Amino acid sequence: MKGIILAGGKGTRLYPLTIAVSKQLLPIYDKPLIYYPISILMLAGIKEILIISSPESIDQYHSLLGDGSTLGISFSYAVQDRPRGLADAFIIGEEFIQDDDVCLILGDNVFYGQNFSSTLLEAMKNNSGATIFGYPVKDPREFGVVEFDKDNNVISIEEKPVNPKSSYAVPGLYFYDNSVVEIAKNVKPSERGEIEITSINNEYLRRKQLKVVPIGRGTVWLDTGSPSGMMQAATYVEVVQNRQGLYIACLEEIAWRNGFISTNQLIDRGKALEQTEYGQYLLHIAKAGK
Ligand code: G1P
Repeated sequence: MKGIILAGGKGTRLYPLTIAVSKQLLPIYDKPLIYYPISILMLAGIKEILIISSPESIDQYHSLLGDGSTLGISFSYAVQDRPRGLADAFIIGEEFIQDDDVCLILGDNVFYGQNFSSTLLEAMKNNSGATIFGYPVKDPREFGVVEFDKDNNVISIEEKPVNPKSSYAVPGLYFYDNSVVEIAKNVKPSERGEIEITSINNEYLRRKQLKVVPIGRGTVWLDTGSPSGMMQAATYVEVVQNRQGLYIACLEEIAWRNGFISTNQLIDRGKALEQTEYGQYLLHIAKAGK
């Protein structure tokens, strides 16, 4: 399974913050936003990750993340010359995906919760076609909305419906088999001129190959689409980290716990960042042991 992170878009809803800086490089408390979706792919055991961003920003992602070797994984980079829609990720990523299955996560989606990695591993194992998630929100109208029966069979999926058929939004995290590439190529642009991920999901639904996994209330999916959403996400991370002394989306920690890097590599990284709490945390967990 390969992973793709889409970190494109113009971030217009966050102007002036995002006039000169790509949204997914902005901080959520003590880390760049993109760390959070990277952590989710790593927790799912995915080690080959393609980062897609705009021509102006791609080099910045490269300086932030490098080739991934310090995390025992590999990052590749590709440019999206203009925001054509989420489904474009599979067209841009065709060569990277090759014959594999693929997980797409949006660069601004933050998830955190007890056992969420088991949920991901289970969803990956059971995927035959496409798997999406459903998350209850107060106002689903600004999202993809999934309607499903008590056995989690999808009945409908609609993009930003005026009258949502359920309160379950579809977060920006999707698992697909390899046919997603061909499906993406045949998607017709929507009224807003984008090739929508919802159109891909509807095609899998038509083929009777779409599964939904409801995410329970013990997991948070945070919205970073507005300044106050970003502030709330940052506060959430700060509260949890300072209360528990355990970090959210600490990539080196996940790499180490997953066996992607050794304890010595973790210590080296900790020493390099020793002047920060983040670096001290790495040294602390290395000392405490797994
Ligand atoms: C996109 C998808 C939508 C999904 C959302 C999750 O919306 O089109 O289906 O629910 O991401 O973040 P957009 O951010 O393009 O408005």
